[in-house]
Amino acid sequence: MKKNFYIKTYGCQMNVYDTEKMTDVLEAEGYVASTEVDGVDLVILNTCHIREKAAEKVYSDIGRIRKVVNTEDKTQKRGLIAVAGCVGQAEGREIMRRAPAVNLVFGPQTYHRLPALLGEVADQRARGLTPRVLDTDFPAETKFDHLPRAKAGRSASAFLSVQEGCDKFCTYCVVPYTRGAEFSRPVAAIMSEAEELVAGGVREMTLLGQNVNAYHGLTENGEVLSLAGLIRLLAKIPNLGRIRYTTSHPRDMTQELIDVHGEVSQCMPYLHLPIQAGSDKILTAMNRQHGAESYIETIDALRKARPDIAISGDFIVGFPGETDEDFEATLALVERIKYAQAYSFKFSPRPGTPAVDMENQVDEDVKAERLARLQDLLNKHQREFNDQTVGMTMPVLFEREGKQKGQLIGRTPYMQSVHVTLSAVDETSEQEYNSLMGDVRDVEIVTAGPRSLEGRLV
Ligand code: SAH
Ligand code: SF4
Ligand code: F3S
Repeated sequence: MKKNFYIKTYGCQMNVYDTEKMTDVLEAEGYVASTEVDGVDLVILNTCHIREKAAEKVYSDIGRIRKVVNTEDKTQKRGLIAVAGCVGQAEGREIMRRAPAVNLVFGPQTYHRLPALLGEVADQRARGLTPRVLDTDFPAETKFDHLPRAKAGRSASAFLSVQEGCDKFCTYCVVPYTRGAEFSRPVAAIMSEAEELVAGGVREMTLLGQNVNAYHGLTENGEVLSLAGLIRLLAKIPNLGRIRYTTSHPRDMTQELIDVHGEVSQCMPYLHLPIQAGSDKILTAMNRQHGAESYIETIDALRKARPDIAISGDFIVGFPGETDEDFEATLALVERIKYAQAYSFKFSPRPGTPAVDMENQVDEDVKAERLARLQDLLNKHQREFNDQTVGMTMPVLFEREGKQKGQLIGRTPYMQSVHVTLSAVDETSEQEYNSLMGDVRDVEIVTAGPRSLEGRLV
């Protein structure tokens, strides 16, 4: 009988992409994906280490999952539990110590080795041992050269990893330690993956990287191509209607890339450009290597190139040393930029990062109060942004089914979720439903909510 597996994904889009790749690797090995964790032969937790809450959740999930995996035979056939991703990388040894139920731990750079690792696990089992395998090396070979080829058909919108790792070392952040040094995939590998995805029905591609706009990949002639150059090349693929990229660092937002937003129609009018805080003192302590003013200039230049561009961001409140005045500077910056969408977090001290040892750590209740004030303002702006689209007609790419019958969910160029429900649910509308899925259609926005829009086909 074929073995089945379940992967739970935590954290960022890079992990979503990695989960797809691990799925491809396992399917090529004859495993079958299961939609639920109960009774499976292999569970992989693809974890996130960015904040304490995310990391701790993994341990409580392991406790729950060990009871529901395939427990038929206490020794030989018991379902395996593996921890992958950034917690695996950062805390591999600790997981082995704290969680005896875990059989395998590996980091984000070793996914191509998964069959070999499972082989080791099987060997240990064959010798009557409880398998325990740990692989958190940063291998010399790059995983991208050893992973199965792209698989389309999952959705009309796909992620494509073009860059990984980070050399920026913001003082609060674990990513440079969990994902390793910055690496750009070669142009030819990206282009062939993109072409295969489009041939399989993908209409929108989000280029991924922890520092995606620092991309500098080699062409076959040995020249270095920037992200702007890569987007221009991708825009030549027929039927690839939408190109997005995330996450960008303000320092790497070149004029060349800003110009792409004005010149390449496939480049969507939406950009996630985190600043984290509005005070220059805090930005310096975070080692962000730019100030608030230069960030505002970048946004102004983007709006000049593409006046309707929607901006989203990330914020951290309560970084060590953040005074009321510093926090007010964050609110002032938010007021100035008016984000269409944003994520905001309380500073979480992470082991191994410089910010843990900084003096003047901010009290939890102060962090909570600042977060609430910031989120009120961000929500207000998001609501205003959504409200102004009511009555507008926008092209929507339908990506997935809604919860209700006849309901489709898609996205506007500005990344807003749009729900459309087909009125009569009969055979003709079923055909219509299927033809809409994966397609871009004009939708008139009827109502706006805080997080999504409702629309009707025009
Ligand atoms: N590479 C991206 C972000 C990666 S992490 C960038 O440079 O912006 C995603 C977000 O998590 C960050 O933008 C930041 O807002 C948040 N984050 C990272 N480390 C954090 C920490 N220690 N505490 C709270 N939030 C954190
Ligand atoms: Fe983390 Fe900073 Fe690198 Fe982003 S740029 S991944 S926040 S270290
Ligand atoms: Fe989390 Fe790792 Fe992504 S720490 S945010 S899963 S890069």
